[in-house]
Amino acid sequence: MAAALTVIDHPLIGALLTRLRTEDAGQGAFRRHLHEISRLMAFEVTRDLATREVAIRTPLAEARGTELLRPLVLVPILRAGLGMLTGITDVVSDALVGHIGMARDPDTHRPFSYYCNLPARVREADVLLIDPMLATGHSAAEAAAKLKAEGAERLRFVNLVSCPEGIAHFTSAHPDIPVFTAAIDERLDDRAYIVPGLGDAGDRYFGTI
Ligand code: URA
Repeated sequence: MAAALTVIDHPLIGALLTRLRTEDAGQGAFRRHLHEISRLMAFEVTRDLATREVAIRTPLAEARGTELLRPLVLVPILRAGLGMLTGITDVVSDALVGHIGMARDPDTHRPFSYYCNLPARVREADVLLIDPMLATGHSAAEAAAKLKAEGAERLRFVNLVSCPEGIAHFTSAHPDIPVFTAAIDERLDDRAYIVPGLGDAGDRYFGTI
């Protein structure tokens, strides 16, 4: 059975995404808005994570509370995925972080992995694979395959802007992985950029334009 595709439809995320998309948003604004949106998306993406009850002591009394059942591992796809990391670690400060470097051949648009460094607890963790743009879906699908090969079993894929082509590719490669996005755009252009999209997320975030 195909996993869920969740389009996170929230007025604050919509307004921030609109500003982020705008051509004349400078690098500082782009970076700030991407952090803010990622923080808001983190709430929806983690909403149904399993928890367990724990006994604690407040300054006044014994009490019961909850904690996450499993470690949370965040895996940004380098480099644009780093842009969503800060916002998520703002709300889950003890998340573990792995990195996967995927590059795209400019002619074939096929991805190849040049770096992978994961926490050992990835096998027992809830894992969020992070990349702002779900374009062809090839890099994300390769990265997810690599995570599975390293033993990750509970994966979710979080992106900001997607398109029908990317969703189709990723969900057919990994029908078991839930996908969260804030927008499904119209299409890919002939350079594999999302239209209308927001341009190159990594370049705009890091100022390498
Ligand atoms: N990567 C980006 O940064 N933007 C796109 O539109 C597609 C891939």
